[in-house]
Amino acid sequence: MDPEHVDGDLEKILLTEEEIQGKLAELAAAIERDYEGQDLLLVGVLKGAIMVMADLSRHLSRHVEQDWMAISSYGSGTRSSGVVRIVKDLDTDITDRHVLVVEDIIDTGLTLSWLVSNLRSRGPASVEVCTLLRKPEAAKTAVDVKYVGYDIPNAFVVGYGLDYAERYRNLRVVGTLAPHVYS
Ligand code: XMP
Ligand code: MG
Repeated sequence: MDPEHVDGDLEKILLTEEEIQGKLAELAAAIERDYEGQDLLLVGVLKGAIMVMADLSRHLSRHVEQDWMAISSYGSGTRSSGVVRIVKDLDTDITDRHVLVVEDIIDTGLTLSWLVSNLRSRGPASVEVCTLLRKPEAAKTAVDVKYVGYDIPNAFVVGYGLDYAERYRNLRVVGTLAPHVYS
């Protein structure tokens, strides 16, 4: 879906389709170099990462396996707390596997930090993280994110997998919502 189909719900487009796809192609090239000769399992975090997973994986010119986790973070309102529950676990045994977590956005990093330690406890060969978007607060957390698409300002964004009340995930762009949408 394109921005004109949401009737002025977007206040500002932060990233166009071209910018998103160009960046994912760059990230895919770096991933190909870094994992050359190694098997690779991409782990997407539902539901926000669906678009990043689909497009990043198709920019790769090599075999990869894909698996998914769904986690829910208990938080007050829109803030995540770092207290996490697995809603859907991996189907794959990741012992001795190279795992790359594919994320849409890292905000506080609390969810991701929990996820990375959970995956590391399963005896993988490696666990790294790739995210399309990162907010400023994420820099304060301990998780080292190897592949970052864009650092964005601290505003709530939708599109390209990211939702507000489950809408806007199918937008091709990433943008901020106009105030009238919230009220
Ligand atoms: P933390 O704070 O643990 O949370 O890094 C990351 C998760 O919070 C959600 N999130 C957003 N979702 N627009 C969204 O649609 C945003 O601007 C936004 N910021 C954080 C998202 O689920 C992410 O995985
Ligand atoms: Mg997410």
